[in-house]
Amino acid sequence: METRVLKVDARRPDEAAVSEAARIIRDGGLVAFPTETVYGLGANALDAAAVARIFAAKGRPADNPLIVHIADPNQLSDLVEAVPPPAQQLMERFWPGPLTLILPRTAAVPPVVTAGLGTVAVRRPDHPVALALIRAAGVPIAAPSANRSGRPSSTVAAHVHEDLAGQVDLILDAGPTGLGLESTVLDLSTDPPVVLRPGGVTAADICAVIGPVEVGSTRETDEDDVPRSPGTKYIHYAPKALLIVVDGPFLESVQAKINDLAYEFTAEGRRVGILATAETRGAYQAPVVLEVGSRKNMSMVAAGLFSALRAFDQYRVDVVLSEGFPEDGIGYAVMDRLRRAAGGRVVQV
Ligand code: TXA
Ligand code: MG
Repeated sequence: METRVLKVDARRPDEAAVSEAARIIRDGGLVAFPTETVYGLGANALDAAAVARIFAAKGRPADNPLIVHIADPNQLSDLVEAVPPPAQQLMERFWPGPLTLILPRTAAVPPVVTAGLGTVAVRRPDHPVALALIRAAGVPIAAPSANRSGRPSSTVAAHVHEDLAGQVDLILDAGPTGLGLESTVLDLSTDPPVVLRPGGVTAADICAVIGPVEVGSTRETDEDDVPRSPGTKYIHYAPKALLIVVDGPFLESVQAKINDLAYEFTAEGRRVGILATAETRGAYQAPVVLEVGSRKNMSMVAAGLFSALRAFDQYRVDVVLSEGFPEDGIGYAVMDRLRRAAGGRVVQV
């Protein structure tokens, strides 16, 4: 299959491009489209065969369910059994936006979407192109992040093309996505609700609206050992190189440890890359030092993280050493993604 790319204005998407994309969705095809978090790989959520093509294109394990994207709250009634008051309050406060809600599903949602679970993940993205596409298609759109399974999520159309050319009918290219990390996933099917994946909407933000929530991605259901959020058991977001995160309260110690490790790996003949910040890049000696943003602006760090991880592949490094970040606000989600990309290899100093 040939993958077409259509450039669209992020604020005022071109109608012809959107209706072409909507036609592909209705015909059972795949369209990659921008959201405010990352690019999604979309198909008609009510068409099981189309959704199956998403799993094939990504090489995604069948037990990892997808998020269903809607443009208007009235699309919810087809997908979920009921909207309990906390869900209603969160939707009013954070939708459209980077918060995914997990609720008991209706029989209309094909099992392939939810990996056979009794719940479905839904979100209303805050991006004019995503909203226009869902409205024009006239169906909810199931969409995981538009990357090969296990690779960093795509924050620009070029990442989508790199991973999925030949696997997707059309890419709507509206430039870089805003937040750069995937949505917060909140399971509302249990009491108390559980944050399964941290993101732009923090647990504190949620707590301020509905009261206490649990935070944890590794808890499992009582009955059957199915992980609560199946996606969180896989290594994610990884560059091709080995990634090691060095974290600690004193930046000088972190820098010293990174330089020590860089020296050791270089002595072993391995090519080293360092993920640094504006404040620290001058402190490092390594063949490749990339700056992900300023430590004073964690939103920029979040927005640049996946691009930076992908860039190391281009420089063909064997090992990437990354600084850790303070875990408040969006920093918590940044560290979550770094830990996963590192497969848990975090050195504390
Ligand atoms: O920002 C985002 O959420 C992006 C954009 C495209 O919307 N999408 C995204 O989708 O990140 P994906 O498939 O890469 O991540 C969805 C996560 C996975 O960890 C999956 O296991 C979890 O949500 N999930 C989906 N449905 C679930 C369910 N019914 N129960 C528990 N976890 C679920
Ligand atoms: Mg993903």
